[in-house]
Amino acid sequence: MSNTFENFQATCRQRVDRQIDRHLDAAEFRGPNLGEAIRYVVLGGGKRVRPLLVYASCRTLGGNFEDADAAACAVEFIHAYSLIHDDLPALDDDGLRRGRPTLHKAFDEATAILAGDALQSMAFEILCQPRADSDNRLRMARELALAAGPAGMVGGQMRDMAADGRRVSLSELETTHLLKTGALIRASVLLGGMSTGIATSAQLERLGEYAHHIGLAFQIQDDILDVVADTGTIGKPQGSDRDRNKPTYVALLGLESSRDRARELAARATGAIVEFSEQAAPLRQLAAYIVDRVN
Ligand code: IPE
Ligand code: IPE
Ligand code: MG
Ligand code: MG
Ligand code: MG
Repeated sequence: MSNTFENFQATCRQRVDRQIDRHLDAAEFRGPNLGEAIRYVVLGGGKRVRPLLVYASCRTLGGNFEDADAAACAVEFIHAYSLIHDDLPALDDDGLRRGRPTLHKAFDEATAILAGDALQSMAFEILCQPRADSDNRLRMARELALAAGPAGMVGGQMRDMAADGRRVSLSELETTHLLKTGALIRASVLLGGMSTGIATSAQLERLGEYAHHIGLAFQIQDDILDVVADTGTIGKPQGSDRDRNKPTYVALLGLESSRDRARELAARATGAIVEFSEQAAPLRQLAAYIVDRVN
């Protein structure tokens, strides 16, 4: 990984962490444990891939970091909420996340459910803070709502739950992955572009195509890591998918073909953004990172 990309990652991570801190400091938590639980989750590690995508996409279209701060924070809050609920006993029933007990273990189930609900609302509150470009913000909020809701992440999670222990076709699995994980990744890339306020529909289409491919690749790599990585490295229980007899890319295609498919998708993603200048370098590097990552 090049030095410039490592610097870009470090800058964006610090930046979004500062934003998150700022929003949490300003928020009013009118219920016991809510503030502590939310801090436990959102400040407890994570690769911050979705904020990185927001910033990279904004830079690609010539925007600056400041333009993208609200969207970066909002997508990470939606992501954090999705992880809390994904780990609940009624869903994946996992006890470890980012190397620590999951929220329902560290606190309790009611707190975990409500902290997830709160994070979802907070994401939209951050995105909708009044600014001059309110029409643009409305479009961004709508894009994020669609990606997070029944036509996106929640729809995918429902399909994922319904498929536990069942045989599904590769195309059914692809749809599930594109929804449960791909939709929020796509929204991150699109919101980054939109946050510049000057994105054309042609540019957003190219970014959307890039994001479609890396969104699927991201979940394929997640399926691979569930098999090949160790719990200490991924910070969540290795073998969780197998224990639940969950259809995954590895279960359907095997390891090598899953790796090939992920690499092919990363190549397609970078192919979709060839027309962008050097400013798209972080997006290209992120595509490679998503399929090479070890956690
Ligand atoms: C895990 O996402 C959940 C999926 C959608 C596969 P990440 O791998 O981005 O999790 P963190 O944020 O780095 O912990
Ligand atoms: C989760 O997929 C997708 C979400 C919407 C959170 P996984 O269930 O595979 O994610 P991990 O492996 O628990 O992080
Ligand atoms: Mg899951
Ligand atoms: Mg899970
Ligand atoms: Mg997984």
